Amino acid sequence: MTARNPIALALFMLIAPIARAQPAPPDDGGMPVRNDIVRAKCGACHRTDDKGRMSRISYRRATPENWEKTIKRMVVLNHASLEPADARIILKYLADQQGLAPEEARPVEFEPERRMVEFSYDKDKDTADTCGSCHSIARVLSERRTKEEWELLVAMHRGYYPLVDNQPMNGGQGFRRTRPMQTEPGPDGRPPDNRHPMDKALEHLTKTLPLKTSEWAAWSAAMQPPKLAGRWAIIGALPGKGAVYGQVTIAADPSGADSFTTETRYTVARTGEAVSRTGKALVYTGYQWRGREGEWRQVMFVERDWKSMSGRWFTGAYDETGVDVKLVRLSGEPAIFGTSVAALKTSSTAQAVRIFGANLPTTLTPADVGLGQGVKATRVVSARPDEIALEIEVAAAAPVGVRDLSLPGAVKTGALVVYDTIDAIKVTPQAGMARVGGNVFPKQFQQFEAVGINNGPDGKPGTADDLDLGIVNVKWSIEEYTATFGDDDAQYVGTLDENGLFTPAVDGPNPKRVGDRNNVGDVWVVAELVERPLRARAHLLVTVPLYMAWFQAEGGK
Ligand code: HEC
Ligand code: HEC
Repeated sequence: MTARNPIALALFMLIAPIARAQPAPPDDGGMPVRNDIVRAKCGACHRTDDKGRMSRISYRRATPENWEKTIKRMVVLNHASLEPADARIILKYLADQQGLAPEEARPVEFEPERRMVEFSYDKDKDTADTCGSCHSIARVLSERRTKEEWELLVAMHRGYYPLVDNQPMNGGQGFRRTRPMQTEPGPDGRPPDNRHPMDKALEHLTKTLPLKTSEWAAWSAAMQPPKLAGRWAIIGALPGKGAVYGQVTIAADPSGADSFTTETRYTVARTGEAVSRTGKALVYTGYQWRGREGEWRQVMFVERDWKSMSGRWFTGAYDETGVDVKLVRLSGEPAIFGTSVAALKTSSTAQAVRIFGANLPTTLTPADVGLGQGVKATRVVSARPDEIALEIEVAAAAPVGVRDLSLPGAVKTGALVVYDTIDAIKVTPQAGMARVGGNVFPKQFQQFEAVGINNGPDGKPGTADDLDLGIVNVKWSIEEYTATFGDDDAQYVGTLDENGLFTPAVDGPNPKRVGDRNNVGDVWVVAELVERPLRARAHLLVTVPLYMAWFQAEGGK
């Protein structure tokens, strides 16, 4: 065979991957399974060798979510029989003993947090295109495997989804090459890389996501049961409503290792709406907090010093409603979490401001409150350890800018801003998405918010000193995003309430629409400032329900 003969080269390229897929030498990175329930429940199909390593299971590490999906698949597709109690023990054991180190999990935290983020994997385009079209690429980055296990995973995909070879999904590429072979050398003079996309991806995955890493060696040795009991400050942001402040009391739950109970109370700072809930949580791998309070799920990353954790609490059929949270361990010292207003206007008197915190002084005079030049407290309306209500006066000449707030024993830096006018408003997210539902499928909602912007001390828009004034009062409306002649989506897609929450219309064909179309479409979401005619808008795509949840739905049964 000569490299110049295209037919021989094609044959060689076809055979080469098969030859490479021959049994890999046994990998000594395999981790022995020392849990009787795993051995008993999984051992019928996954044999154990003389070192206690189980086939397949011992050669992979993964996040709790990925282990959970695998265990569900064993039940649903492979007919493993498993009681929920045993499944929980197996999940805990595998996520703890064969998990990801904090450094490995942090870049893909958005996945368990169910954030709608645009994540592009830039380390290898073939892997991103081949493996990120059906599920998020973060699903892949949530695992570490031996070379052989990566190969078996690809084989599993091809077994269950034979179309995966030739059918590119969602703009990605199939596992096998679908384009004609290149025979000419590339611009760099090197022979063209005609391997199948899956083979290129496999090489990348084996190299960048190996079973054995120094991070995991260090973390698995250092890991300890986290001691998180105590009082924690909640500092959060609820899209559409703004800052939330409160406290959670965490107690160890004697019913299981790394288990906790939670008692949560928080206030939406702007509106005063109070929320309280109780629940339970389990911490995996020493740092991955997974809690539940009623319908709300909590996913947080516990920092190594056990003094703070952060993540997202969410609910909704698509996990689209959520609070971004940071929890900070409280000591006996006074602490200021934040204030009910984000911005103070110059020339205002008797402006009501509430301060949220813990261990705040209860005997307080206006002179004890510091807010910098031109801003002063004129009255202390009430003072409790967790909330102080004040009246504030801002002079006409108070300089515009960010202010710290001080009370006896505590300072909150950058607590609020002083501004003179709202120069512009901005709607976030700039591109929203909702899904029609209510008949057969659930609806996916989209919350918008409008924030005010002041040009800052330099008076120029779009510069680094611009001030974020937080959520401002606006009137919301929907306008047509004209994409086709006679476009009428705005009439059908759904409604926007006075708080910027978009509720999509029902799913299914609509006989009132041309061609019986679903109530899908795209529109502008428009915000108009109440106090003067300033407008801003964002794009909203209203699309069909997510029909394919693969077999998560069955697994949940
Ligand atoms: C009834 C047989 C059976 C039982 C019981 C079983 N498995 Fe499997 N397992 C399979 C088969 C078949 C495969 C290969 C196909 C696949 O990946 O779904 C597999 C594959 C796997 C893999 C590799 C999956 C991947 O992503 O590449 C893991 C990990 C695994 N099993 C874990 C478990 C665990 C943990 C248990 C116990 C809760 C278990 N299995 C119980 C049959 C079983
Ligand atoms: C045709 C769609 C499709 C493509 C393309 C695809 N996957 Fe998957 N993948 C799936 C489905 C479906 C599942 C199983 C879903 C579940 O368990 O809920 C899955 C599961 C997985 C899992 C979890 C397995 C487990 O047991 O935890 C990993 C890891 C994974 N895929 C990696 C990859 C990699 C690597 C590639 C690229 C080589 C890839 N996927 C390409 C559809 C796809």
